[in-house]
Amino acid sequence: GKGNYRHFMEKELHEHPAVLGDTLRQMVNPGTRAVVLPELPFDLAGISRVTITACGSAFYAGLVGRYWFESIARIPTDGDVASEFRYRAPPLPQGGLGLLVSQSGETADTLAALRYLKAQGQHVLSVVNVEESSMARESDAVLQTVAGPEIGVASTKAFTAQLAVLACLALAAGRARGTLSAAQEAAMTQALLEVPGRAAEILEHDAAIRRIAARIAKARDVLYLGRGNCFPIALEGALKLKEISYIHAEGYAAGEMKHGPIALIDPTVPVIATVPSGPLFEKTASNLQEAAARGGQVIVFSDAAGAAKLQGIAAETIVMPAVDPFVAPILYAIPVQLLAYHVAVLKGTDVDQPRNLAKSVTVE
Ligand code: M6R
Repeated sequence: GKGNYRHFMEKELHEHPAVLGDTLRQMVNPGTRAVVLPELPFDLAGISRVTITACGSAFYAGLVGRYWFESIARIPTDGDVASEFRYRAPPLPQGGLGLLVSQSGETADTLAALRYLKAQGQHVLSVVNVEESSMARESDAVLQTVAGPEIGVASTKAFTAQLAVLACLALAAGRARGTLSAAQEAAMTQALLEVPGRAAEILEHDAAIRRIAARIAKARDVLYLGRGNCFPIALEGALKLKEISYIHAEGYAAGEMKHGPIALIDPTVPVIATVPSGPLFEKTASNLQEAAARGGQVIVFSDAAGAAKLQGIAAETIVMPAVDPFVAPILYAIPVQLLAYHVAVLKGTDVDQPRNLAKSVTVE
């Protein structure tokens, strides 16, 4: 049941800390601070290329994974939505790794992509939440998200659990390939272990996010911006808002703004930025300045240092915990999901069962 929550989605949002803890506990030894994956039937050190494919939010989790595999394990990585991937007839190298991400393990396009990857001689690894699913059965190996049943059509806790698994896989690959020093691995694992606690702190901003939702609920169009490993979080924020509040939203790489979307900006358009401090902060900050200069209502999710720098232009700010930029996408997903939830509640939509959508898309 929903317990004391109004919707399954609200309940599931509040399960982020527990689910992240359960998922990480499976793969991280807190004593040695080492990632310990279940034994895989292939050697991560020998993988020539990773091909990630999935649909919807699961694909956005995969996109974050791409940043991690490339930067941490230095593996060439490609990603595409399964509905395109399966028909592109992409040539793939022998000994590559096909990586599927799916909550249900039953999504038709992702399952077809899995079969294509197998036929192309790829090792096939699935990140699934449902253990007894078609994808789990047909894969060479499975890494399970321990999110428990997710009832709301809008994915929440399954998404952050997918990120936690992909982060561990990237660290394991980095260790296997020698691209990560023991000290780096220990620091990054420590950052991951702190994620559940930080997630709980973020949920305490619920009332502040609800106030921001009142502003968003009046908008016709909303733009989400992010850069680097938080770019896919902009995509996730926009998808979540569209699917449950029916407000038109787009997620963009912050640097793409001036290549088109900036033309949309006027005082009626909220621009929501997931912008942690880090090497890419200043670049995104200058994109936000451009948005503010055109009257856009800039809504900032950043840590204290970032929030201070953006104080002059932000219409609203949520101060996030300061974390290693590596784990930022896991945490920044939470407030954008919460925001979508509160906007949908204000709009009075059917939050758990939004119109036209199914939880599991088993036909293409
Ligand atoms: O079960 P899956 O993870 O394969 O589902 C993929 C998408 O259908 C799913 O993530 C969808 O985009 C969600 N409704 C997003 O909130």
